[in-house]
Amino acid sequence: MTRCDPGHKLRGMTTAFVPDQWYVAAYTREVTRELFTRTVCGESILFWRTVDGAVTAMSDRCVHRRFPLSEKPSHLVGDTVVCGYHGFTYGADGVCVAVPGQSRVPRTARLRSYPVVEQDSFVWVFIGDPALAATTRIPRAPWLDLPGWTVVSGMEPLAARASLLVDNLLDLSHETYLHGGYIGTPEVAETPITTEVDEEAGIVYVSRHMADAACPPFYANSTGITGRITRWQDIEYTPPCLYLLHSRIAPAGVLPNEDGSDPDAFHVEVVYAITPETEGSTHDFWAVARDFALDDEDVSDYLAKSNRTVVLQDVAALDTLEKVIAGEPDGYQELSINIDTGGLAARRMIARMRDR
Ligand code: FES
Ligand SMILES: [Fe+2]
Repeated sequence: MTRCDPGHKLRGMTTAFVPDQWYVAAYTREVTRELFTRTVCGESILFWRTVDGAVTAMSDRCVHRRFPLSEKPSHLVGDTVVCGYHGFTYGADGVCVAVPGQSRVPRTARLRSYPVVEQDSFVWVFIGDPALAATTRIPRAPWLDLPGWTVVSGMEPLAARASLLVDNLLDLSHETYLHGGYIGTPEVAETPITTEVDEEAGIVYVSRHMADAACPPFYANSTGITGRITRWQDIEYTPPCLYLLHSRIAPAGVLPNEDGSDPDAFHVEVVYAITPETEGSTHDFWAVARDFALDDEDVSDYLAKSNRTVVLQDVAALDTLEKVIAGEPDGYQELSINIDTGGLAARRMIARMRDR
């Protein structure tokens, strides 16, 4: 069985990679007939589409002398990839079909291939024992690929371990301080959260419902609301990779109808995929889906720009934390309070998944 190799341990590391799980490797738009590479959980993976459009995922290291197959002059010929160093040629399943100078292809000449699925605008790759892929759930983010929703999205590289991003996203009280002027207002930090854990489903829920709050620019400028708002933040995190923030914004006092319909509110689904690149770096995929102003490109541009700014504020803070942790002596004790219950629940769930 091949498991995700945790590699060298970094100082202060509390969560290594979780093996035998699906991870977001890319947006579907990133994988084309060009060779594309991304490192997931320390494994360099080559992605490309067959002539028929299917996504393939295989090791990005030629079995001969390790030349990266994503590196020019490696190239595609039909449904094969030709190594740019000495010409080993591999099919879409990673099996070598031709080598130079001899007709016999060694039986062991095959690239490791990875289970791969396109879903909800993401390319998901399974890291671990491929035999477990079919029975391991891929969490859903349907709004990213659903009529009635408009999406802006991106990915920022993070020079910090994935667990720092999990901490960050599970505790949104930091919006007030780190993201003031964008999505933070005093009420976010002031309002207590509720945390629930569904062990069976493997989901951590964190909710903060603000009955009467200031409307931050992010929502004022996109919805047009000018006064106070009722603002709900409902987090649904499925470790290790998929984080959803169901955000509901309405004029203060406006609640959903008894039948669950909610025509007078604005809904934003904020989606993050937290994919470890190495033990100390992370792919920070972010997307913002909305059910209003669907065709308004100014709103799309504004939300894309603002959300990217917010993500980069987090990236700067977490990159700093990674350096702090790397440079500190062993034994530092964090202090946790009520705002941390979601993050601590996520840590426990991840540790159980990793160690089972
Ligand atoms: S390294 Fe790929 S063919 Fe030699
Ligand atoms: Fe943040």
